[in-house]
Amino acid sequence: MDTTGTLIMPPAGSTIASEVDWLFYLILYISIFFFVLVVGAATYFFIKYRRRGEIAPTSQVDHNIKLEIVWTVIPLAIVIILFFLGFSLYMRMNIAPKDALEVKVTAQRWLWTFDYPTGINSVNELVVPAGKPIKLLMSSNDVIHSFFVPDFRVKMDVLPNRYTSVWFNAPYPGQHNIQCSEYCGKGHSEMLGIVKVVSDREYTEWLESAAGPGEGIDLESYGEQLFTSKRCVTCHTVDGSLNVGPSFLHLFGENVYLQGGSQVRADENYLRESILAPEAKVVDGFEPVMPTYQGLLKPRDIDALIAYIKSLGQEQGEQQ
Ligand code: CUA
Repeated sequence: MDTTGTLIMPPAGSTIASEVDWLFYLILYISIFFFVLVVGAATYFFIKYRRRGEIAPTSQVDHNIKLEIVWTVIPLAIVIILFFLGFSLYMRMNIAPKDALEVKVTAQRWLWTFDYPTGINSVNELVVPAGKPIKLLMSSNDVIHSFFVPDFRVKMDVLPNRYTSVWFNAPYPGQHNIQCSEYCGKGHSEMLGIVKVVSDREYTEWLESAAGPGEGIDLESYGEQLFTSKRCVTCHTVDGSLNVGPSFLHLFGENVYLQGGSQVRADENYLRESILAPEAKVVDGFEPVMPTYQGLLKPRDIDALIAYIKSLGQEQGEQQ
């Protein structure tokens, strides 16, 4: 298996990737062959039959049965062969083996959530055991997204109100990029994730650690980790600069101006509500685009994020 990639292809990270590449190259080389043949013949005829002095009498030949059969039957045979090769690969890429491990994928602006059979979930990081078929059952909470892992040659639209699915088998441990391939708004280009292919043992360990994360570290540091791992960082900054959402710098304890003209103090309850029901209070000047984190965060996670935001609010006070 090709694990480094070529000039035009990323590394082949799944069992099906080399078959996709093979078919791609077959079509590419057939196309190049006919391109050279047609352009070459045309050029040759341009030169051979170019106008020289007097206009030559036009040939009276208007058709040739043998030639017409040749240029009909050969391309027809080629496209029929390509159709069956493509169709059979398409079916194999779309029908997951029965024993596949099923992971639920939820897309929303602008993050990916993965729900595992054991009940835990992760954001923007899909961890799977190597050498096992993985089936992704996908849906969207808002607009159309598209789940694309170039290294796996796997891409499928993710739609609201219906399920789509893909499957893959990544034989070797490693990391592969996930990207959204359907324009879905401001944060589309940052709707990135990673597939971590790990050994069976590491997968089991990861499931256990993901079930009870953040143990043994203080809330503030844990909140800082969550800020990145739960992708708050896609829309919020911690340095005061503007993004899709308000910055968290000096937010805690401040008065926040809301749409409609009211004000609210950014205390613990306001932050908690904004994480779980973001559309309840929308800050003036921003769009109500934040997804709810209901079900994605445990109570301790919410505590940690609030502790982290608090620490960003207090810095000013400490410096003064
Ligand atoms: Cu999601 Cu583009």
